[in-house]
Amino acid sequence: MSGKTDMTGTKAHSKHSFPEEEIRGVYHAIESRRDIRHFIPGEIDPELLERLIKAAHHAPSVGYMQPWHFVRITDSQLRHAIHDHVEQERLNTADALEQRRDEFMKLKIEGILECSELLVVSLTSQREQYILGRRTIPEMDLASVACAIQNMWLAARAEGIGLGWVSFFEPEVLASLIKAPQGALPVAILCIGHVEHFADRPLLEETGWDSRRPLSEILSENQW
Ligand SMILES: Cc1cc2nc3c(=O)[nH]c(=O)nc-3n(C[C@H](O)[C@H](O)[C@H](O)COP(=O)(O)O)c2cc1C
Repeated sequence: MSGKTDMTGTKAHSKHSFPEEEIRGVYHAIESRRDIRHFIPGEIDPELLERLIKAAHHAPSVGYMQPWHFVRITDSQLRHAIHDHVEQERLNTADALEQRRDEFMKLKIEGILECSELLVVSLTSQREQYILGRRTIPEMDLASVACAIQNMWLAARAEGIGLGWVSFFEPEVLASLIKAPQGALPVAILCIGHVEHFADRPLLEETGWDSRRPLSEILSENQW
């Protein structure tokens, strides 16, 4: 392992490889995807939005349970209600951070009112019926939804569209706002829209909040 972070030098090496340009495209989307909180006005083409939802729906899922549901928020009052709740949770989080409170308060953590499309993604309610792959780790359903969102995130980046995952909310409050069925659990508010630019580095890195750990720290052989 070279430990280099540049993922774009890849060459086709298997009869099953994509053409080199397409391989580079996949790594390019992975490297240049960013969590987006700043949006510029402009509609999202409905066909593009459908492609993004389809990309999510092609994600792997434990036992093929496809435990995701997307609610598209088009009602302005509802959007504002979601924003108000997230804002309250932002303040609650700031208080919980104690010494890093002021540093946190300078960060932008969502673009709910500015983005063109707003989606609430939830775990579906019939989770208990699915045992396959979840007997010992029930959270595999949440892992599956995360795979779906990541698919959408990468597809959006390739399409030049920004996506931000907002997680500052009480699931029960959001569930009630979207009238989710009993047992369903909202896990993401996705802000989707056009962007001025995609930053080279995560915002939390640029602002000095944290940094990417070296490969040597996250990889070991045989023993941790
Ligand atoms: C599960 C999950 C929840 C997140 N929730 C938020 C959030 O509420 N607000 C926010 O600004 N960023 C949120 N993020 C984005 C992370 O801060 C971001 O992915 C990380 O800082 C790395 O930056 P990058 O995505 O631009 O590479 C979330 C990311 C994940 C995977």
